[in-house]
Amino acid sequence: MTAHIEALKDSIAKTVIMPGDPLRAKFIAETYLENPKLVNQVRGMLAYTGTYKGKKITVMGSGMGMPSIGIYSYELYKEYGVENIIRVGTAGSYTKDLNLYDLLLVQKCYSESSYGKTQNGDESCFREASFSLNLYLEQTAQEMNKHLTIATIHSSDVFYKEKDNYLELWKKYGCMACEMESFALFHNAQVLGKRAACLLTISDSLVTKESTTSEQRQLSFTEMIELALEATLKF
Ligand code: HPA
Repeated sequence: MTAHIEALKDSIAKTVIMPGDPLRAKFIAETYLENPKLVNQVRGMLAYTGTYKGKKITVMGSGMGMPSIGIYSYELYKEYGVENIIRVGTAGSYTKDLNLYDLLLVQKCYSESSYGKTQNGDESCFREASFSLNLYLEQTAQEMNKHLTIATIHSSDVFYKEKDNYLELWKKYGCMACEMESFALFHNAQVLGKRAACLLTISDSLVTKESTTSEQRQLSFTEMIELALEATLKF
């Protein structure tokens, strides 16, 4: 047990699929895993462990934002011996080049967050996904005929901004979309010598102001989950 996870140590798999919403974790576990067992419900942050085509997998919610995913991913890596975390989430598009439901694989994220500085003094603004996990995800997408856009994204601390600077971040750093968790996840993986990746579906556009319905989101989410789960069979 850790401060925020009650699961027994060996009830968490080496590979964790991590949506933001704990109810999504429940949906993934009940839809795709064989023999899913509920292993955490502290603060409602549901985690399930089962097998996918015979491979032991844990699915756990991260909550929203870097402080939340920062806590859970750190405890999973450090206390539970987790080696791989694949975040599956949604993002807002910063460019007309992306459409709703497009699937992104994050290669690099930019953040103005103080997460790194506060965690270990690292003040750099960029963090990268694990090269090998991204390679497995790209190969799997090809095999499944799914189109993946390899992207640099913005990992933000603020959802509701009075003054949005997305155009500047797009022009300056090539940030194609925005979410709120990758930077902390990638940072923790780097600090602890572990692997992390992040798949995102475009759920809204800051350019056109379009957004998706929750029903439509569920469908595109399914595609992303299937890709993440299939990729885990490669490692
Ligand atoms: N901003 C931050 N996070 C998000 C967004 C957004 O526009 N859309 C989905 N996750």
